[in-house]
Amino acid sequence: PNAIFGEARKNSAGVDLSDPLVREPLLGRLRAMESRTYEAAPTERSRGEHPIRRITSPHDDRIEVGIAHEATEGAIDRAMTAAAQAQPAWDALGGEARAALLDKAADLFEDERETFFSLCIREAGKTLPDAVLEVREAVDFLRYYASEARRQFSRPMPLPGPTGEVNELRLHGRGVWTCISPWNFPLAIFTGPVAAALAAGNAVMAKPAEQTPLIAGFALELMHKAGIPRAIVQLVPGDGKVGAALTSHRLTAGVAFTGSTDTARMIARSLADRTDGPIVPLVAETGGQNAMIVDSSALPEQVTRDVVASSFQSAGQRCSALRVLFVQDDVADDMIRMIAGAIQALAIGDPGKITTDVGPVIDAPARQALRRHLDWLDLHARKIIRAEVPVDLAEHGFFVPPAMYEIESLAQLTQENFGPVLHVVRWKSGQLDKVIEQINSTGYGLTLGLQSRIDTVAHYIEQHARVGNLYVNRNQIGAVVESQPFGGEGLSGTGPKAGGPHYVARFATERVTCIDT
Ligand code: SER
Repeated sequence: PNAIFGEARKNSAGVDLSDPLVREPLLGRLRAMESRTYEAAPTERSRGEHPIRRITSPHDDRIEVGIAHEATEGAIDRAMTAAAQAQPAWDALGGEARAALLDKAADLFEDERETFFSLCIREAGKTLPDAVLEVREAVDFLRYYASEARRQFSRPMPLPGPTGEVNELRLHGRGVWTCISPWNFPLAIFTGPVAAALAAGNAVMAKPAEQTPLIAGFALELMHKAGIPRAIVQLVPGDGKVGAALTSHRLTAGVAFTGSTDTARMIARSLADRTDGPIVPLVAETGGQNAMIVDSSALPEQVTRDVVASSFQSAGQRCSALRVLFVQDDVADDMIRMIAGAIQALAIGDPGKITTDVGPVIDAPARQALRRHLDWLDLHARKIIRAEVPVDLAEHGFFVPPAMYEIESLAQLTQENFGPVLHVVRWKSGQLDKVIEQINSTGYGLTLGLQSRIDTVAHYIEQHARVGNLYVNRNQIGAVVESQPFGGEGLSGTGPKAGGPHYVARFATERVTCIDT
């Protein structure tokens, strides 16, 4: 039970897709929703024209999902001004009242989850199991950050001490946060930072990835329906230029960004160069070069299952996904053979079909970058398996074949390859320290998997690997809000961890009052 409120907070139950009585009617309802189209627009619309972006499905570019009206500079300025004016009253509401509205939004997200499933499949190319997890995570973020608002923002924290005065610490919103979210978790990572900034008493400019504005637009509709004022949380659809206009706006008091390490550096640079406002904090969740270490004590069947889930679920488009598998050389041949067999069996295809394991990647540039990398691997690595994309899919969808290549060393990879491509490196007994050195030397530090039944190996890795999330004898994706706070260090992000106890406070400012009694 929760120590303060007496009752444990429960995570969202999701949907049991293994039960045909649940699954089949759901699939029928999702099919019936396939002809729907959606529209997203800036909450603050300008009188003039907005540039329009047509959104089609990543698995079939003939399917229209809807249109997004993108923000203009003038609209951004008016949106920011309205948000800055409304924010003090939102902050003054206090943690309890804000939490009630976030909880209400969570209930509406659950009520409307099938619309979100449909959008996740059609706009983002997610499979249905992924879509279910996505909605659960978004709901969990809303409820968890609501509980954090209650815990940290409802009453001042008394500061006992020797001064003989009354000392109290209070947390307040900073002003207007700009939250820029990625396409790979178009609902969960859109909702998480927005909910945290709101919980902390801020107004929010929410800029979704340009590939997935429709899911974000629907999420904001529900937040407004829950009673969160329109000026307090505003949708600002658009591309990187819109993001830059927001982060460089004089009224931006904080930036939460999830995306590439390069873009995070660019934002940090532009914030540092500002001279027209406060010093602005940045919360960035960025890339990774995630590894899994397998030693000769590991169970081959479990390794196979966990490697395939970690590398190929969500078409490898998770920041947590496994990219480089280190296998101890005396078991490497067997492990590689088993994993290759499992890759061969993966069904590539329409993410709306329940039989599909691997859907498309998000768009043409993503497919192009992965194809270039596969070409490079063909020249510089040993191909173990490169699956085939069925010809009928390749014509209209952005599919990349799941593949596994053996390389000599992690140092050969100079960038994160965001898709269904697994690299394998063999390591020699007695050289675990060299493996950890290679992993640490990438500078990234997001997830690391370990498959070993030797306690001292786990302990050694825990002590020496500079990573945010270590997973032992399981897959390394799908961190659960509150139980497994998620986020990296080094080139992988600034912290704090999403879904963790320090996250919401990072969006606030701290004030201390000292009263002489
Ligand atoms: N939070 C996601 C996961 O754990 C990654 O972004 O897979």
